[in-house]
Amino acid sequence: MPRAFETVGVVGLGTMGAGIAEVFARAGLGVIGVEVDADALERGRGHIRRSTERAVSRGRLTEAERDEIFGRVRFTGSLDDLRDADLVIEAIPEVMDFKRALFADLDRICKPAAVLATNSSSLSVTAIAAATSRPGRVIGMHFFNPAPVMKLVEVVHTVVTEAGPADDVAALARRLGKSPVTVGDRAGFVVNRLLLGYLNHAATLLERGVASMGDIDTAMRLGAGLPMGPFTLLDLIGLDTAYEVCEVLFQESRDRVHAPAPILRELVAGGLLGRKSGRGFHDYEDTQVRADT
Ligand code: 3HC
Repeated sequence: MPRAFETVGVVGLGTMGAGIAEVFARAGLGVIGVEVDADALERGRGHIRRSTERAVSRGRLTEAERDEIFGRVRFTGSLDDLRDADLVIEAIPEVMDFKRALFADLDRICKPAAVLATNSSSLSVTAIAAATSRPGRVIGMHFFNPAPVMKLVEVVHTVVTEAGPADDVAALARRLGKSPVTVGDRAGFVVNRLLLGYLNHAATLLERGVASMGDIDTAMRLGAGLPMGPFTLLDLIGLDTAYEVCEVLFQESRDRVHAPAPILRELVAGGLLGRKSGRGFHDYEDTQVRADT
């Protein structure tokens, strides 16, 4: 019988963390959303408010359900508030030193039976687990953007992950209405390993002048049946995230398909990060997209 998690913590309320917190709250779990920076905490709160608002306007939620969902999330600036959580999932930036420092803190603060999960896109879960005294109860729980919509969760096992927590996390993913797949701890796991090579290759085709950005997007939507073309998807993922994932993949695989395309580096250096900054490959300045992502 899998263990049922009732109170979960989410650390980091950026696009992914806020989306994950919303998914937990929609499934009826109590959520503790942590952001140590006060402005980022407000942005996370705003993200969940707008996303649930949108569901009300589309007739997917009633106003009462929206209020209930919102009421299940407690927003805080202190990690100490995670002491009673059954599971904590981390969704902070993809920097190994930050993650290891956070997991060492979580290990000290959280009860011994708590499971500690990372939403890392590509970094080694094993290296993160090694920063704690409970590596058997550290696992990858990788959601996809937009988290409230995408149905997959990659459950990442390391060589030391215990069977119990792994089964419990897979059962939790099902309770959230997601389909879990079990993957090993290799850079990019399954989806990002395959997807980022393709997206990076699209940027290379653009640089080589094979086709325009709009035509590459249209070609992949209409010719390959994908919901979005590669540049629209890169903008959704965030060009900084895409760049970092490519870097990690390239370091591990040494496969040139993952060597970040120069245009990706240039856009990130210029602060053009995609939807979240209002401009990436495409321009979102005049739309409501920034508020919606
Ligand atoms: N947050 C919450 N809900 C959202 C949303 C968001 N940011 N964007 C769209 N939605 C919801 C809409 O409200 C709508 O819900 P409804 O059906 O209940 O009314 C539903 O999604 C469909 O939205 P739209 O009708 O506006 O638009 P589309 O039909 O074009 O769908 C999409 C939008 C779901 C984003 C679709 O285009 C898609 O699947 N794109 C591909 C996304 C993808 O591949 N993501 C994975 C990226 S890789 C990743 O995340 C890994 C990481 O580690 C890098």
